[in-house]
Amino acid sequence: MDKPDVVVITGAGGGIGAALANAYAAQGVTLGLVGRDEDKLRRVADACRAKGAEAAILLADVTTPEIEEVLRTFDAAHPIDLLIANAGVTSGISDVDGLEPWDTARRAAETNFMGALRTIAPVAELMVARGRGQIAGIGSLAALAPLPFSPAYSASKAGLETYVLALRHLLAPKGVRLSIATLGYVETDMSGRLSGPKPFQISPAEAALKIKAGLARNKARIAYPVVFAIGIRCLNILPEWLVRLILPAFAFTISRQGANTDRLG
Ligand SMILES: NC(=O)c1ccc[n+]([C@@H]2O[C@H](COP(=O)([O-])OP(=O)(O)OC[C@H]3O[C@@H](n4cnc5c(N)ncnc54)[C@H](OP(=O)(O)O)[C@@H]3O)[C@@H](O)[C@H]2O)c1
Repeated sequence: MDKPDVVVITGAGGGIGAALANAYAAQGVTLGLVGRDEDKLRRVADACRAKGAEAAILLADVTTPEIEEVLRTFDAAHPIDLLIANAGVTSGISDVDGLEPWDTARRAAETNFMGALRTIAPVAELMVARGRGQIAGIGSLAALAPLPFSPAYSASKAGLETYVLALRHLLAPKGVRLSIATLGYVETDMSGRLSGPKPFQISPAEAALKIKAGLARNKARIAYPVVFAIGIRCLNILPEWLVRLILPAFAFTISRQGANTDRLG
């Protein structure tokens, strides 16, 4: 598989997005770093340039139509080889009342599902016209079963996964490859807000390397940790009484204290 020369990553200002930028940064590579926080993006861009890459800062909020225009404009100058729809926010039950607040639920649906579609669909169209390209969605193990401690997050990632894997079949004959990264816990600002056990947590750098390796092999689903992915899938076939016994062992809450809900995640 060819090495991508032009890579665009949304949510590139920190966490997994920044680690992905670092993993792809190299001489001859042009990176488009998408996010809302210019200072954070500048720091990531500087680190990528230090590795010899060209790096452009693309300020955009993926929940607004501006993202579509920003991506089309960037693509006109630098045809995108690899797009990684990584921007996301978390949502889950609050440590105050054990319910999922509507504001975080809405943001999760808007960002993780609609924001990802606004990112992927316009670029997929351009790639189809060129007859080549690769797109990755950053999903979650939470997509694999309905998790009662993060209903909207779980649903938003399930929607994204279904969309990406459906497009994979649709666009394979047109030369466009799609993959979903189905990740467990990664040590970032996002997971830092969750209370509760974080089994098999890995660093953003480790996550980025696993994603990069999976994309190089054009895997449909890049799942980590596999044993956890299989376990969560099994929840869909176990009797409900057993599922209710198992789930509390993995429950988490999200602290509402001092939270800027527009930036949760
Ligand atoms: N950490 C985990 O345990 C874990 C597990 C499974 C999946 N994931 C997924 O991995 C992806 C990255 O998460 P992370 O852990 O690296 O979290 P993070 O450190 O909080 O990073 C999330 C990034 O998304 C960006 N973002 C959020 N809303 C945006 C919007 N509306 N427009 C543009 N950018 C936006 C943020 O940029 P700003 O600077 O603009 O806020 C930030 O750079 C997410 O999709 C997440 O759901 C994470």
